[in-house]
Parts: sequence; C-alpha cells; structure tokens
Amino acid sequence: MAAPPASLSGRDEGSFAYLTIKDRIPQILTKAIDTLHRHKNEFFEKHGEKGTEAEKKAISLLSKLRNELQTDKPIIPFVEKFVDTDIWNQYLEYQQSLLNENDGKPRWFYSPWLYVECYMYRRIHEAIIQSPPIDDFDVFKESKDQNFFESRESIIALCTHLQEVVTAIEDLDENQLKDEFFRLLQISLWGNKCDLSLSGGDTSSQKTNIINSLEELKPLILVNDMEHLWSLLTNCKKTREKASITRVDIVLDNSGFELVTDLVLADFLLSSQLATEIHFYGKTIPWFVSDTTIHDFNWLIEQMKESDDKCMSKCGAAWETYINMGRWVYQDHIFWTLPHEFCVMSQVAPDLYAELQKAHLILFKGDLNYRKLTGDRKWEFTVPFHQALNGFHPAPLCGIRTLKAEIQVGLRPGQAEQYMASEPNWLTTGKYGVLQFDGPL
Ligand code: F6P
Ligand code: MG
Repeated sequence: MAAPPASLSGRDEGSFAYLTIKDRIPQILTKAIDTLHRHKNEFFEKHGEKGTEAEKKAISLLSKLRNELQTDKPIIPFVEKFVDTDIWNQYLEYQQSLLNENDGKPRWFYSPWLYVECYMYRRIHEAIIQSPPIDDFDVFKESKDQNFFESRESIIALCTHLQEVVTAIEDLDENQLKDEFFRLLQISLWGNKCDLSLSGGDTSSQKTNIINSLEELKPLILVNDMEHLWSLLTNCKKTREKASITRVDIVLDNSGFELVTDLVLADFLLSSQLATEIHFYGKTIPWFVSDTTIHDFNWLIEQMKESDDKCMSKCGAAWETYINMGRWVYQDHIFWTLPHEFCVMSQVAPDLYAELQKAHLILFKGDLNYRKLTGDRKWEFTVPFHQALNGFHPAPLCGIRTLKAEIQVGLRPGQAEQYMASEPNWLTTGKYGVLQFDGPL
C-alpha cells in the first residue's frame, strides 16, 4: 500500500490548521488564563496564600506557553513527571527525526497540526499540575457545565422522547425500531456541533429541539452508513445465544449536550436489545475544551438525576442503574490524550487495542477522533475510508462527526468539488456531517 500523504500543518498559510494555531488556540489560552484569574478568591478561600501563589504560577506558565506559540518557538519537552511524560517526550524526538538538517526543531507552525494542538492541551495540563494545591483544577469545567445548562430545553425534549420510546418499546415493530435507531444516531451526530474548541472556547449549546430538525438536516450528511449499522446490530441480535453479549463501544467526545445525545443513544441500544453492554471511553485530562472526563460524566448523570424535570431525572436514575449493574462501563486510557494517530494504537497501547477488539461495533464520536482515525493527513476526498484508517481495524467501526477540519475521505467523485464551488468553508464550519462505517458488510 502507498505511504499515507503528508500531515495537515500550520505551515500551509491560510489553511484551517494555520488559522487555528494563529487565532483559535491563543484565544483558548487567554480564556483559560482569565478563568484562573476569576477563581482567585475561591483559591484563596480554599487554600489561603498558597492558593493565590498557585494561581499566579499557573497563569505565568500559561502566558509563557502563549508566547512560545505566538512567536513560533521550538516545541520543548515536558518536565513534570506524569504517567505519559516519557511517551510525549519520545514523540517529540520522533518528530525531530522526521525533519531534515535545515528544518531546525519541531515548531508550532511547522510540525503536524494534530501534534501541536494536542501538545498545547497537554501543556495546559502541565501548567496546572505544576501548581499545587490547585493541581486538580479543570480550566474548562465552567464552559462545559454552561453548555449543559444552556441546552436544558433540548435536553428535556430529548429525554421526554426517550421515555416515550422506552415505555412503548415492546410494541414497536422492526421498522419502527429502525426509524428510532436512525433518529437517535442522527441526533448524536448533530450533537457534535456543540464542541467548544471550534468556537475558541465560547458557548456553543443546543437551543432548539433537535428532533424537529432532522429531516431538514438529512441532506447535509455527506456519507450516511446508518443502514450498515442497523444490519450489523440486528444480525447480532438475531444470532445471539441466550446469555451471550453484544457490546457497543462509544469513544466519547464532548460533554454537555453531545454527551446527553450519546447516552440517549446508548440507553436505546440496551432498551431495544440491539446491544447488551455499552463501554464508554473518556479523557483522563481536560482536553480540547469540551471533551468528557470522568468528572464530567458523573457530574452530568448526577445533574440529570437531581433535575426537577421528571423525564430528565428518570433518565438520570436509569443511567445510574445501568452503571451499577455493569451494563454501562466507563473506561479511560492515556492513549486518548496522546498525539498519536489511531493506526499506531496496537503498538503504543496494545491493551486498549485488545479491549476495543472485544466490541461488536465501535462508535467514534467527533471531529478530533475522525482526524486521528484518518491520521489527519491530506488524503484525496475519494480515498476509501478503509484505506485512510491505515490498518486500524480493531472491530467494525463508525466515525460520527460534523466536519470541523480540512479532512474528509470516502466521498463520491465530484462530491467535494460540488460543495467547494458553493461553500469554500464547507469542511470547517460544522454544518456538514458523516456517519461513516468500516467493517465487513
Ligand atoms: O480546534 C480544532 C479542532 O480539532 C477541530 O478540528 C474541531 O473544531 C475541534 O477542535 C474538536 O472538535 P470535536 O469536539 O468534534 O472533536
Ligand atoms: Mg471535542
């Protein structure tokens, strides 16, 4: 097989990668600094002078980081000991080894975009862990929670819908079940519009009832493999022996509204017996502003449970029961917050790869996961998804993302050109989406 093409990079002036590094990332850093500053009193009340000192230290480390980035300084190794420090520093050496003598050192606007963007979030984490006693502070927590609160009306509508479906599930025939499955998959897809990194950390919540918009949004799904997912899961259900399992793994993306849509889908998969067990994967450290950590996951379920809306609290209670029964399993792994493409997972994180192999289907949510699935490379639009995965095939899988980066594979000839002609920014606004399957048919 031919070697994959070059990585997307800030080297390409005017590209989305370039603009992200130039504008969006500094904006996110400034917001993080501002958030620390606004929590000054809280740190003091909790930890006294030590809290104030820590806040100042974290701010100065983040300001230094912003300066390194804006002046395109060389990428420096991590100094604070953490579980993944050695892997990160080895990766920097690897990036160095890819350069020619005259290229100098890996730099922000020169190295692969995927690497430097992940590196930036890992450096934010380093600044925080270097600043005890506020070393467990999540600079993005507030924005994630705000996204959840602002989406309240849509969450209620979604939970009400789910409760109606679950109550009537025994009476639904095959076609009705299928329609429902497709509906909830699409809701989970459009839930991915609500990430907080594209907006530079600004609020991006779901204010309208998404269920009513699905028909209108359907033409914006550029690759729609929902039928494959349905065949796969109904097949598992039919051939499943008593007491054996069908496991669906969901590699989560953003907390807030998107996470609710994923949990609603997961609930339906169990209620309809399309699956018997769901495994969720989240991030071990705050990541790309809105990505889900275990704290966000637990917090959201608790909020749902305690809600004064009956349907929301019913969902929250049911979800807690699933967790207690072990039918929903939350797992994390440092691999998800490393800069590596997924095609090297079997070497870098063989335990995680082996875990994913146990799934009957893996759903990869969001844009960043799609970038890592395809290596964040300059693939032709018509290259088959299977090829762009570059050997990453732990189990049948599906990328579910709204397009927020200049990468897309598996399109029909002429399809990309058609969008390009009318909307030059079609790849990066989050307006379009894909539900893209890879696996035996
Ligand atoms: O900041 C760039 C980026 O990686 C975009 O590709 C995307 O806008 C965002 O961050 C992450 O999106 P998602 O939450 O869907 O992974
Ligand atoms: Mg995200």
